[in-house]
Amino acid sequence: MRVGLVGVGRIGARHAAILAAHPEVSEVLVTDTAPEAAHALADSLGLTFVASSQVLVAERPDALVIASPTPTHAALVRAAITAGIPVFCEKPVAATLEGTIDLARLERETGAFVQVGFQRRFDPGYRRARELVRSGGLGRLHTIRGNTFDPEPPPAAYLRGSGGIFRDCSVHDFDILRFVTGSEAEWVLAAGSAHGDPVFAEVGDVSSATTLVALDVGAVATLSAARHNAAGYDVRMELAGESGTVCVGLDDATPLASAEEGVPWPAEAPHHLFLDRFATAYAAEIAGFIDLASQPGASSPCSLADALAATRLAEAATRSCQEERVVRLEEVPGA
Ligand SMILES: NC(=O)c1ccc[n+]([C@@H]2O[C@H](COP(=O)([O-])OP(=O)(O)OC[C@H]3O[C@@H](n4cnc5c(N)ncnc54)[C@H](O)[C@@H]3O)[C@@H](O)[C@H]2O)c1
Repeated sequence: MRVGLVGVGRIGARHAAILAAHPEVSEVLVTDTAPEAAHALADSLGLTFVASSQVLVAERPDALVIASPTPTHAALVRAAITAGIPVFCEKPVAATLEGTIDLARLERETGAFVQVGFQRRFDPGYRRARELVRSGGLGRLHTIRGNTFDPEPPPAAYLRGSGGIFRDCSVHDFDILRFVTGSEAEWVLAAGSAHGDPVFAEVGDVSSATTLVALDVGAVATLSAARHNAAGYDVRMELAGESGTVCVGLDDATPLASAEEGVPWPAEAPHHLFLDRFATAYAAEIAGFIDLASQPGASSPCSLADALAATRLAEAATRSCQEERVVRLEEVPGA
């Protein structure tokens, strides 16, 4: 297969290495608006440099991976769908809710294969938790707790364009909540606070937040996000049911210490960034994409409809935090 890749920054460089090592991929064509970065990566991994994303789409690769900045995603996904090229796009697929709705409509109308980069769906721990929920191993779920804590905030320029903590960060927790529980949210209540860099308050964002999500199955989830967590990159999900409790992300590299005396856990250095915490998941999602992109009529493991559902939760949480009230999901446009 010939696979195109747009953007070779933090996540794009990782996808490039995975694609270059994939046995079914004969050629990786890369482009980036910083050509020296694309050239350097192409030289080190044996990829083909292409001058622009327009030239790349015109080359008609068998599949396209989009890892450029968020504002570029919607037009690139549209171009790939129009050219009939199966496409993998990093989250978020569009900068706005309206843009996401438009893309989900296009997916419905064309039946195009689009996979969105919510990599937690490929993480072994989340998949095991999902199987336990599905098989009834936990009994009736009553309580879910999740968190995404970054070691340090991204640069101010990134925060200004991020859309806020719920759209940028908690959106991963919203997606995986739907994936693991198989249920939908009825309403949310979110709160947060801004500290550290003044940019948070300037742009109306918060640096830590919690969203309470009431699910249609009767269980309640609390999902927290924080930008300052010097202990490490801490992503966990705890699911408690009437027959058992399980925790995703609880291992020897969890950035968490016990306050009990004589408890020597965790034993290893804590996870520092998403690239190490989710290394297995990134490799599995790209391998899954390569596999499915060559199968006519395959259904996406994370479609634009899924991306829209997570985006609507992020919109509802943003509104709830700003307006200090419960927001029901039907208040947020979805079609
Ligand atoms: N799924 C995840 O865990 C995850 C993690 C990180 C980033 N992301 C998403 O991936 C995307 C990229 O994030 P990043 O952190 O790698 O950013 P980055 O800034 O490190 O890299 C972006 C790259 O795209 C290039 N670029 C900019 N405009 C371009 C254009 N018009 N065409 C081609 N290339 C262009 C830049 O030169 C840069 O090399 C964002 O949408 C982000 O939300 C997802």
